[in-house]
Amino acid sequence: MAHDHASPADARTAPVAVWQVLGAMRGEELKNWRVAPIDNNVSAQERGATDLPYPLGWYVVCYADELPTGEAKPLRYFGKELAAWRGEDGKARVIDAYCRHLGAHMGYGGRVNGNDLECPFHAWRYDETGAVVDVPYSRSIPPQAKRPCGGWPTAEANGFVWAWYHPTGEAPMWELDVFPEVGDPDWTEYDRYEWLVHAPLQFMAENAADSAHFKYVHGTATYPDAALSFEGHRRTGLIKAKMGTPKGEVDGQIANASIGPGQAWTRFSGISETLLVAGTTPVERDLVRVRFAFTQPRSEAEGPMAGLARALIRDIVKQFDQDKIIWDRQRFVERALICEGDGPIADFRRWYYQFYAEWAKPTQMA
Ligand code: FES
Ligand SMILES: [Fe+2]
Repeated sequence: MAHDHASPADARTAPVAVWQVLGAMRGEELKNWRVAPIDNNVSAQERGATDLPYPLGWYVVCYADELPTGEAKPLRYFGKELAAWRGEDGKARVIDAYCRHLGAHMGYGGRVNGNDLECPFHAWRYDETGAVVDVPYSRSIPPQAKRPCGGWPTAEANGFVWAWYHPTGEAPMWELDVFPEVGDPDWTEYDRYEWLVHAPLQFMAENAADSAHFKYVHGTATYPDAALSFEGHRRTGLIKAKMGTPKGEVDGQIANASIGPGQAWTRFSGISETLLVAGTTPVERDLVRVRFAFTQPRSEAEGPMAGLARALIRDIVKQFDQDKIIWDRQRFVERALICEGDGPIADFRRWYYQFYAEWAKPTQMA
């Protein structure tokens, strides 16, 4: 939304450079822009995106309601074709999409048979480990086909289906954060937003540690203090700030966390209680699918404060739109020239690099 700053009490953010791109777009046009391909971008290689491995962790692969019981669907993440299905037992499963027999893509026309996935080509049947459990026309199954191969550990939490990515197939190393608000009748149904960001995931993650950009990209009056703490696979932050609203400044608080590289959440309090559950999943080295799902207490979102509650979501979404413009064409600078006042970007990177399994230093054995 464009702000005209008509009222002197209007404490919303000031116009910034990226509004040249965003200012003219509305409604559907903006929604389409968020997931559209971009013109004239340089290669992933030239932007340094191929220097960054895919980080290990739990990632959203779809909303739970996009995968009904008994259905199979194709997915693409981590530069790979995948097939997901929900078995008759209600459990979501994900395996590599290409059948090990003659290479059919099982996400297209694959059939759910009990809790297994049946290939559309010759009906070989796979379990969730990617092992072939039945070849209907053959008396025996080749021994290699019986071995688990290409199965992805899956989980379901907060209305999403998640898959665990590890480059060498290590088992999940932590659990997802679960929010009782999601699905609680006193809280709203998810308000959902989606983007395709043309960048490595690290660019987006690093934003939380980048204090200086808030003023120039988001138009904040000051540089918010990006105080972050890092513990194991968790990063947490708490920002106490004056938040600009159409009715002036209010004391706001923003608590946020990343649980590994794929799950993030933010809780806004002050203006209107809001929980944002976010999933960020690499599709290619330089492409990430981002899902923002907001829920608010019905008493606020549907009561006399509804306008403010909606405005808060609009503002958060606008901030992401603004960042996207930068990320879409940004280049990875390994030896970044960091200044005082930039925020804890170096600390952030040190924490983040634990998820690049390929970069792990061989540990010294005692
Ligand atoms: S290609 Fe899948 S069963 Fe033949
Ligand atoms: Fe930002």
